[in-house]
Amino acid sequence: QLTGDEQAFQQRIDEGIRIEPKDWMPEPYRKTLIRQISQHAHSEIVGMLPEGNWITRAPTLKRKAILLAKVQDEAGHGLYLYSAAETLGVSRDELVGDLHSGKAKYSSIFNYPTLTWADIGMIGWLVDGSAIINQIPLCRCSYGPYARAMVRVCKEESFHQRQGYDLLIQMCLHGTQAQKDMCQEALNRWWWPALMMFGPSDADSPNSAQSMQWRIKLFSNDELRQKMVDQTVPQAEYLGLKVPDPDLKWNKDQGHYDFGEIDWDEFYAVIKGNGPCNRERLAARVNAHKEGQWVREAFSAYANKHESEQAV
Ligand code: ACO
Repeated sequence: QLTGDEQAFQQRIDEGIRIEPKDWMPEPYRKTLIRQISQHAHSEIVGMLPEGNWITRAPTLKRKAILLAKVQDEAGHGLYLYSAAETLGVSRDELVGDLHSGKAKYSSIFNYPTLTWADIGMIGWLVDGSAIINQIPLCRCSYGPYARAMVRVCKEESFHQRQGYDLLIQMCLHGTQAQKDMCQEALNRWWWPALMMFGPSDADSPNSAQSMQWRIKLFSNDELRQKMVDQTVPQAEYLGLKVPDPDLKWNKDQGHYDFGEIDWDEFYAVIKGNGPCNRERLAARVNAHKEGQWVREAFSAYANKHESEQAV
């Protein structure tokens, strides 16, 4: 049974009116947003690591410049998202602390290693491609600061997706057989983890029903995953790559691709901290934070000095 405030709140949501930071909101709505936005921010920040691994080894100056710009964009996305979360009354220190203690999640996909240069193409094409499918609807979600942050994020993600696909076009359509084989091998490793990015199947997603009612989520995990498969399979065909799923087939009646069952044991192992790179990723972030301590101290000292100068 909803209270009067809750009813009025739900009515605003149903009418498509945005909720802003100073508006009244039910506590579970605020908590859900903090959880989702902060996990999203952590994903952007941890997501810099697998690609950062290739900046010094990019094969040409052009590719290095593109990769640098892209990884920097991800840092920017993390910062907008932390700011959006802070509007809900939580501090960035708390959020970062929860990431570093292992309490907060970040996207499963960033716990996989980048073993070859083709992986950089796969991340742009499949990972950023999936991120766009998930995030375009978020530009219309009910919470104003999150929705607005997503507009710019999505524009930049679109560049990220294109640079990845462009890299793969070069290797698959204009490259050597060895390069093409490298791309196929990378697709074999990235396909299933990319499908897992959309989260558990709808039947096993504890948060979906409430988040959809509040219009934090506009589409279910399975709907978005299906969209990704439908959009991506023809792109794989264009590259001449084979999607590693023996059950993948066009379903003419449904107008969608049918696809095989995701290995959910792998998904849950990764989100519980036992994926191939979870420990390495977390250790890298904790270390970066430690090494940045002097920068934070220098900024506070400068701000204090500036404040005391203004006071006189
Ligand atoms: N990786 C890690 N954890 C996940 C993933 C995933 N791919 N998918 C689901 N989970 C977690 C959820 O966070 C939730 O855990 P929690 O309750 O402890 O927070 C649990 O699994 C159950 O899942 P759902 O009930 O389906 O959770 P939710 O409604 O939050 O949906 C989703 C998950 C779809 C990821 C949603 O949070 C979302 O759209 N987030 C914003 C986008 C985002 O974070 N993208 C990050 C990757 S893209 C990028 O950074 C480039």
